[in-house]
Amino acid sequence: MDAFILGIESSCDDTSAAVLCNHRLLSNVIAGQEVHAQYGGVVPELASRAHQQNIVPVVDAALKKAGIGAKDLNAVAFTRGPGLLGSLLVGVSFAKSFAYSLHLPLVEVDHLHGHILSHFIFREGCEQPHFPFLCLLVSGGHTQIVKVSSPSEMQVVGSTIDDAAGEAFDKAAKILGYPYPGGPVIDRLSKIGDENRFKFAKPSIPGFDYSFSGLKTSFLYTVRDEVAKNPNFITENVNDLAASLQKTIIDILFNKLEKAVKQTGIRRVAISGGVSANSGLRNRMLLAAEKKKWEVYIPKISYTTDNAAMIALVGYYMYLKGKVSTLSVVPQARINFMDL
Ligand code: KG4
Ligand code: ZN
Repeated sequence: MDAFILGIESSCDDTSAAVLCNHRLLSNVIAGQEVHAQYGGVVPELASRAHQQNIVPVVDAALKKAGIGAKDLNAVAFTRGPGLLGSLLVGVSFAKSFAYSLHLPLVEVDHLHGHILSHFIFREGCEQPHFPFLCLLVSGGHTQIVKVSSPSEMQVVGSTIDDAAGEAFDKAAKILGYPYPGGPVIDRLSKIGDENRFKFAKPSIPGFDYSFSGLKTSFLYTVRDEVAKNPNFITENVNDLAASLQKTIIDILFNKLEKAVKQTGIRRVAISGGVSANSGLRNRMLLAAEKKKWEVYIPKISYTTDNAAMIALVGYYMYLKGKVSTLSVVPQARINFMDL
């Protein structure tokens, strides 16, 4: 029998609702929040207020677009964490009252689990990864290499010890005077820049862990020192600065990813999370498929940044397993990976 799952995502600055019929996406509605751009990052209090305004119309639009009524749903899946507590609270409270009023099962989902399993939303002509595979999860809050053994068994192989890759993009863009989120801006500028023009610090930490705070400082000092000599330095060199920064971030990501492939012997590699929208990273994956014979999985752009489709997909798996939550469930800003 078909299962219709409503997914709700509100962990950061996007309010999203999606409807899936089994693996197939029927709708995925996202309301972004322009309000943060001027502050250079997400302002938690403004985010939760915007979620409150958006949540009802977004869920309503997702159901209408899917062409089903609330009574046709089989379960309601929502992001329990990790994320901003005030933002999560809006989605969790809505999901609980919505499910309660319709007598529907409620399914809590780990946001990172959603990013990883976004590869399993049905796409015409696209194969889903076989298990096990490695997933490079790169977002604004997380940077991890995860060994994925089944839809519910995952193990973190390496993780960032300070900033996430997305934060490195966002902070560098802020230094150059661009609004949040900086990743898409750096990506766009990079396309016409010389990626070998500037050299920035790369970390040398053991194992599979990442670090991006040294790169941020090195970028900041380079810009600061050059601007002191020439006030027009940024405008005259912005494309080369962006391209060199992007290449450095991708080199850092790939250094550990290649090590993890060697160590585990797993050549099936996926990327997910907001930074997986980056054109340089996507190209580097295609290059690895060609030169290193990796089997690579690159998500559809609309499944890279935060979306409820991926939450509904995890919800679908959990629902099939009978893993439902009670009404006493509360949001959790920090979650040890896959604790849910
Ligand atoms: O997964 P996501 O939407 O939210 C979190 O769970 O954190 O990721 C947001 C991050 C931001 O840091 C944003 O700058 C980055 O993804 N991002 C990009 C690109 N598009 C979004 N970074 C690099 N290149 C892009 N094209
Ligand atoms: Zn995310």
